[in-house]
Amino acid sequence: MRTETPQPIRLSDYRPPAFLIDEVALAFDLAPNTTRVKARLSVRRNGAHADPLKLNGERLKLISVAVDGRALAEAEREVDAEFLTVPGVPDAFVLETEVEIDPENNKALEGLYMSGGRFCTQCEAEGFRKITYWPDRPDVLSRFTVRIEADKAFPHLLSNGNLIEKGELSGGRHYAVWNDPFPKPCYLFALVAGALDVLEDKLVTMSGRTVDLRIYVDPGMAPRAAYAMDALKRSMKWDEEAFGREYDLDLFMIVAVRDFNFGAMENKGLNIFNSSLLLADPATATDMDYERIESVVAHEYFHNWTGDRITCRDWFQLCLKEGLTVFRDQSFSADMRGHAVQRIKDVKALRARQFAEDQGPLAHPVRPSSYLKIDNFYTATIYEKGSEVIRMLKTLIGPEAFRAGMDLYFERWDGHATTVEEFIKCFAEASGRDLSDFFGWYEQAGTPRLSLSSAYDVARRTLEVEIAQETPPTPGQPTKTALPIPVRLGLLDQDGRTQAFLRDGEALDETVVVLSEAKTTVRLEGVDRPPVVSALRGFSAPVVMTTDAQPKDRYVLLAGDPDLFNRWEAGQELARELILARAAGQPDEVGEERFAEAMGRALSDQAADPAFKALLLAMPSEPDLALARQPADPAALHEAREALRLRLAVHLAEDLKRLHSGLQESGEFSPDAASAGRRALRNAALELLAANPKAETAELALGHYRAAGNMTDAMGGLAALMLIGGPEYEAALEDFYAKWKAEPLVVDKWFAVQARDPDETALGRVMGLTAHPAFDPKNPNRLRALVSTFANFNPVRFHDPSGAGYRFLADQILAVDRYNPMTAARLVDPLGGWRRYAPALGQLMKAELERILASEGLSKNVFELVTRALG
Ligand code: PHE
Ligand code: ZN
Repeated sequence: MRTETPQPIRLSDYRPPAFLIDEVALAFDLAPNTTRVKARLSVRRNGAHADPLKLNGERLKLISVAVDGRALAEAEREVDAEFLTVPGVPDAFVLETEVEIDPENNKALEGLYMSGGRFCTQCEAEGFRKITYWPDRPDVLSRFTVRIEADKAFPHLLSNGNLIEKGELSGGRHYAVWNDPFPKPCYLFALVAGALDVLEDKLVTMSGRTVDLRIYVDPGMAPRAAYAMDALKRSMKWDEEAFGREYDLDLFMIVAVRDFNFGAMENKGLNIFNSSLLLADPATATDMDYERIESVVAHEYFHNWTGDRITCRDWFQLCLKEGLTVFRDQSFSADMRGHAVQRIKDVKALRARQFAEDQGPLAHPVRPSSYLKIDNFYTATIYEKGSEVIRMLKTLIGPEAFRAGMDLYFERWDGHATTVEEFIKCFAEASGRDLSDFFGWYEQAGTPRLSLSSAYDVARRTLEVEIAQETPPTPGQPTKTALPIPVRLGLLDQDGRTQAFLRDGEALDETVVVLSEAKTTVRLEGVDRPPVVSALRGFSAPVVMTTDAQPKDRYVLLAGDPDLFNRWEAGQELARELILARAAGQPDEVGEERFAEAMGRALSDQAADPAFKALLLAMPSEPDLALARQPADPAALHEAREALRLRLAVHLAEDLKRLHSGLQESGEFSPDAASAGRRALRNAALELLAANPKAETAELALGHYRAAGNMTDAMGGLAALMLIGGPEYEAALEDFYAKWKAEPLVVDKWFAVQARDPDETALGRVMGLTAHPAFDPKNPNRLRALVSTFANFNPVRFHDPSGAGYRFLADQILAVDRYNPMTAARLVDPLGGWRRYAPALGQLMKAELERILASEGLSKNVFELVTRALG
């Protein structure tokens, strides 16, 4: 147990920085165990006060401090484990410090560390303080000049901005000097040094400037950066067209590293990527990898304006850059790959991660008001719900006012650190609307529940739609207020044709009802035929909606809703109800047959996009089902879901086999959306067939695996074999490893597929894999491939009634927390939902959380999450 309880940081305590730093010159003398960092800061007092200069600094060996050229004696400054304090400083002065750090032994992967023999940095959120003494907060913006000196064994020396000088030194050493003309907070600082190959390209911006583009990767890997480069160029053009934003430096660099806690990082002019989100070729990457690379490259690039040029005043405003940038990358992906399919995928991810978070003890508002470690707030709520909020804002004020508000935001806040209030103000001004209620979306945690009922009056030909909203309590927020919620809706008739209607005298095919009170009623007129309501089209708000719709209405929507999101949603709803009924011991066999028939019709729709059909075929995930009814029984849900899949596999066997053979690809692999959609459908058909583990299916899956000409199909085959189990699976696993053991990103897939195995032997297998020579828990990708995949995507085995799955996860958290608290903390989440499970399971989960909490030397990161999870 910790001896002292860490104190939370509160939004209400925000004070402007006591000192500002306009310029800084850093000099790095790189050596794996003894890197020297000299910093020369031009410091200026901010406002009238007599406070001492207080700088953050952790794990730094202080060599010297000088003020205006005069070295300070020990008595003239104070140093502890977290700060350097210098009292009695002038109003403006030059501070010089020198420290020594040990990148090689930095396994937390924050600050300056080594990965694959190269130096690299990760400073967001608070890693810069592990590099040098500094006011480590995002509202101190400075112009950086960085000199890097190293042995020539580290040929590339990179930092932010432009290269202004480089040269040779004696003793086999060399140096480079970089200058970044844009003032930035220290969390955007980056440095990379080492042997790298580079893929180069150029782009001419909208104003005619030529920008050099460089992607640095492991030697030999440059061809695998080609897709990321293509995605980068498309992102740059898209931001010009969609938001009028042009790139600002003459050089844009991306570096791929293998050891990285998160996905990627938007350092100014020098993005650093987890290699899993950058490297791709047909042989080693799946379509899903390509898709994620495209969206993350875009995300980090878009941060140049929403994050770098305009940054956050404090870390409570994290959604200001993250929610907005996710919104931008989702919009980009939708333009690249199709709006409906992209929306369905985004909503699936939102429900799986954010809705789960919102229903548990870790629920927090999009803008939280206190934290212990900000690292713990890089959550689905800040990112995904943060994006949903902006999407609603656009729906509420319309695309033109939205664009005008963004323009105003860029104009007003460029070069500054700001807040969510100021951001929203720009839209209020641009639209002339009072958006004060809307701010509730940022401050109130929890997923609103909507219930919709409608009454049709045949004689008057009117439809009255009533929608009620209620948000359940969340930790620290027992009561909730009504929020403005846009509900997009349209009407069909019983034959599935769109029906027009009148709202306030206006003839419409579709309308947006904005809820503002606990209950909102709208009357639609001119409704000639008995209607089927298609509500919350495009998932117009991040809510859970129940309606008075009957299965027959859902079948109408599934067959013909012009809104493809709702067409998909109707299928999911039908499936969810059938699975839940079966899990509750009341299977609706007739309903299941009817559903299978409807799915068959949907599959035969020649006009539908294969990518869409692939989504339609995938039944709601087990974590999704576990949210729908509580307490959740993962074993019963798994069985019920498999039973429905089996029924579909049997009922649709011929269609699925026909799809599978008909969609077989010949010719060269192309990662484009249409080709990826066909592969997705073919693999989805196989996955469904695998629910019927006959010898014939195993043969089909093995054939699929063996014939695969790309990683998408190889993984499709391997995953199907995993579901079927048996000697074919074992043979394929062995073959796969032998083939790919030299490719770390592919080996991750090999670990992950075994972690997802619902078979009874899976936990034993997963535990055994932690002793596999290729298992390296210091590498976050490898750790997540096995441990997170198991805990998050294998509910039936994670929730083993013995509690062994929970114990396994807790052991991993404790082991990893010794050296990498950020990554350890991200493993806590699956235990956080303990209250949602049957008490026999919940108590075992809780016991593991308590065991973690009672352990010696816990990091603040894990301490905070475990305390909140138990809270
Ligand atoms: N800012 C990064 C992004 O979303 C995420 C990140 C946070 C990366 C913290 C590393 C460390 O783009
Ligand atoms: Zn981001």
